[in-house]
Amino acid sequence: MPQPLTARFRERRQHVLQAIPNGLLLVPSQPVAIRNNDVEHPYRQHSDLWYLSGFDEPESVLVLSTSSERPFTLFVRERDPEREVWDGARAGVEGAKEYFGADEAHAITKLDEVLPKLLENVDHLYYRLGVDREFDDRVLRAVANVRRRARRGQRYPTHIIDPSSVIHELRLHKDSEEIGLMRRAASITCEAHRLAMSACRPGMHEYEIEAVLAAHFLKSGSHRPAYPSIVGSGPNSTVLHYHENNRKMDDGDLLLIDAGCEYSYYASDVTRTFPVNGRFSPAQKAVYEVVLAAELAAIEATRTGATLDGIHDVALREIVRGLIDLGLVGAPFDEALEKELFKPYFMHKTSHFLGMDVHDVGAYFVAGKPRSLEPGMVITVEPGIYISDKADVPSAYRGIGIRIEDDVLVTPAGNEVLTNSAPKSIADVEAACS
Ligand code: GLY
Ligand code: MN
Ligand code: MN
Repeated sequence: MPQPLTARFRERRQHVLQAIPNGLLLVPSQPVAIRNNDVEHPYRQHSDLWYLSGFDEPESVLVLSTSSERPFTLFVRERDPEREVWDGARAGVEGAKEYFGADEAHAITKLDEVLPKLLENVDHLYYRLGVDREFDDRVLRAVANVRRRARRGQRYPTHIIDPSSVIHELRLHKDSEEIGLMRRAASITCEAHRLAMSACRPGMHEYEIEAVLAAHFLKSGSHRPAYPSIVGSGPNSTVLHYHENNRKMDDGDLLLIDAGCEYSYYASDVTRTFPVNGRFSPAQKAVYEVVLAAELAAIEATRTGATLDGIHDVALREIVRGLIDLGLVGAPFDEALEKELFKPYFMHKTSHFLGMDVHDVGAYFVAGKPRSLEPGMVITVEPGIYISDKADVPSAYRGIGIRIEDDVLVTPAGNEVLTNSAPKSIADVEAACS
């Protein structure tokens, strides 16, 4: 349904327009994904298109052009009373202007006809090639069309530029409205993790806990999880992207939950690990303390000027020290680092950008070097230790998988952990489980 216009969308379009001299930016909507026959997967708009317009309907295209006084064009599905009975209301061509601030709007069926006209006298076309080959063809046909007419004096796009350098750099720096939405997503998610801890008992199935999370997300106004929830108990806690969520949980198991809601198009991404029976065993506690120390040290290192590689290094050193102390790595510290003896237990990086997408956009390297963090960027901090149930280690350690993950906003003064309200210390986790 149409959403109220907010000034933010207009401001973002202004930013983009200033960054694309003699340019035209083209952002197609996320294609509808068929589940089977005539049933579709739930629709979610492409983050770039939503970021610049708030428009959430499929079969649409956003255009921003510097060559016109009326720079913002939307191509949308036309109103169709019969289809709207089945699928719900459409904004239509008029609604695109009235509710979404488009200067011009056309039926999506007119795209091939209108696009070549929009490309006349444009030097730089900002469009991401290689995502949707069918749409690439339509764009290239439009470019060829206007190029053919160049003999009559019109200029045509001679450069096709990936717009990520413009849109994704903007998206990487969250404005105050976005930070507010991310705080809300984080707080719903933290409460869901607390409810999961309090609901969990030996004998329950992982999916019963997934249901607790999903119910709280939905009840709180989140439309969907930001990614498929990982609810892995016992040996499943060591499977990084475990999704089956169907195991019956035993007394003595750990449960690793990596789940976050999406709220108004903004993601949260939180992992907590806790004992199914409410009390950590000595071995579980020992491993947990190592991961927690690594996580806290990495959060401490998250500030303006830091790099994700640097933050990972801080976490990694704590993990390696811990693995040696636990007797799981039998080598001196430098050798363990050098020969990557930690890899069987800690095989992923510590951080990624977070925003509208859970693995959010934004360049991780600038001019070949890891980029420095700046205020307004949000990252995750998520070290872990995963000990396979088949590992050649004392049996008390087998099948222990522990990850602790928080969402951290870089601020001018340091950082703000958006997800602090999910229990994390051993005492707080055990209290939440009781
Ligand atoms: N939940 C996906 C991740 O932690 O990156
Ligand atoms: Mn996660
Ligand atoms: Mn993550």
